[in-house]
Amino acid sequence: MRFTPVILIAGAGFAAAQTLSTQCESGLAAIAGSSEASCLNLNALVSLALSNSSSTSVIPTVNTWLTGLCSTGACSNQTLSDVVTNITTSCATELQSIGASTSNTAALITAVQEAYPTVRQIACLKDTSTSTLCLTETLTGIQSATTTLSLTNIVGLVTKVMSGQTVSIPQNVTCSDCSKAAYTVAAQSFPSLVGDAQSTVSGECGADFVNGQMPTDVQETASNTTSTSATGGASALSVGSLNLGAALLVGVSSVFALLA
Ligand SMILES: *[C@@H]1O[C@H](CO)[C@@H](O)[C@H](O)[C@H]1NC(C)=O
Ligand SMILES: *[C@@H]1O[C@H](CO)[C@@H](O)[C@H](O)[C@H]1NC(C)=O
Ligand SMILES: *[C@@H]1O[C@H](CO)[C@@H](O)[C@H](O)[C@H]1NC(C)=O
Ligand SMILES: *[C@@H]1O[C@H](CO)[C@@H](O)[C@H](O)[C@H]1NC(C)=O
Ligand SMILES: *[C@@H]1O[C@H](CO)[C@@H](O)[C@H](O)[C@H]1NC(C)=O
Repeated sequence: MRFTPVILIAGAGFAAAQTLSTQCESGLAAIAGSSEASCLNLNALVSLALSNSSSTSVIPTVNTWLTGLCSTGACSNQTLSDVVTNITTSCATELQSIGASTSNTAALITAVQEAYPTVRQIACLKDTSTSTLCLTETLTGIQSATTTLSLTNIVGLVTKVMSGQTVSIPQNVTCSDCSKAAYTVAAQSFPSLVGDAQSTVSGECGADFVNGQMPTDVQETASNTTSTSATGGASALSVGSLNLGAALLVGVSSVFALLA
């Protein structure tokens, strides 16, 4: 369970720390601006690229991005396939440099299509007792326990974790109702993935955490409709030399971080 998020976060950190090729940047900008991909609401992440990456928290931007994403219909499998194809084509160099193979695009497309509904469902969980998206609540908890979650500091935290140091997060964040809901949704969709982790998780958060019951104060807010295509709203992007790729990757990785 920890493997995938760590890889993704490491990838995001790496991407944030380096400059992306012009080809990769313009490819990502084209995806973010396309009406086909409006189900991913990537336009909302552009302000990350505009923000001062060393001192501005990503949390408000992530919150805006998810709020929009969750109220928009789900992406179709065709859109997911087009997005993966375009990223692997435009950013082949960057993906190889973080150790991701781009040779089997078909398998990657299938994996994304299989994971997408669950990831989206988890990203759109909401704590009804505070009316806050779970991911926003969790990131805020991590921020309170560590440091401002700016792009630069996220890279620093990831580097720390990757080098084997621990970052201590209080139990009311790691074992919250939101975390339990995310774990429960993941366990329903991918029982084999969480199977191995179950005893570790119950050791940390207690047996009730893994009992398969959704906490009553957490609601699934992902819109159940499927986006057909252009519903308007996609705007042309001109990002110039801004590090849009890093912004997108951090956004995507923050979704997976909740699964860790
Ligand atoms: C993918 O790239 C093709 C060719 O450049 C383009 O027509 C299409 O709109 C792109 N799709 C997405 C979702 O970015
Ligand atoms: C960004 O924030 C850092 C640290 O607070 C500061 O040193 C730097 O001057 C800021 N850069 C801009 C462009 O505001
Ligand atoms: C999307 O594709 C995945 C795997 O490629 C498949 O399991 C799933 O049923 C498809 N979803 C729809 C709505 O066709
Ligand atoms: C965790 O506990 C701290 C201190 O009691 C509190 O400030 C914080 O809001 C709590 N966080 C969550 C997510 O409940
Ligand atoms: C979508 O469907 C699921 C399962 O039927 C349900 O729990 C959830 O509340 C629905 N989401 C919305 C926004 O209606």
